[in-house]
Amino acid sequence: MSAAVKAQVAAIIGELKGLPGAMLPILHAIQDAVGYVPSDVVPMIADQLNLSRAEVHGVISYYHHFRQHPAGKHVVQICRAEACQSRGSERLEVHAKAALGCDYHGTTTDKQFTLEAVYCLGQCASGPNIMIGDDLYARVSTDKFNRLVQARRDL
Ligand code: FES
Repeated sequence: MSAAVKAQVAAIIGELKGLPGAMLPILHAIQDAVGYVPSDVVPMIADQLNLSRAEVHGVISYYHHFRQHPAGKHVVQICRAEACQSRGSERLEVHAKAALGCDYHGTTTDKQFTLEAVYCLGQCASGPNIMIGDDLYARVSTDKFNRLVQARRDL
């Protein structure tokens, strides 16, 4: 972790440590700022919240939302909630894993894409839905998935 990132993390912890249940807000803020939760932050959080390192690590490991490694250039999120499942998201996720060559929480070998699950994107009637970065795509077939990913590759 660079000195700049360490200072950024220290500022986040300092700002949020007084909140009730401060650990989750701190972890969210670190991931938003840095893109993942570096292992070096565990002792920093533990010290400031008077917790053991194991407790902090346990929370990071428990919540799949928190990445322990840097994400790829583009984060692909596939909706796995019920409405999208009934509209074919299970088939889409099998295809996506094969096409990208990685499982959920994994990153392609070229570091272009990280695959994540998400549970409802608020567009249930038009599933299966995915997000790539901040962009939402509806009615995503396997062909559409391929086109969307190809269009992002090397952008
Ligand atoms: S279930 Fe997928 S958007 Fe709601």
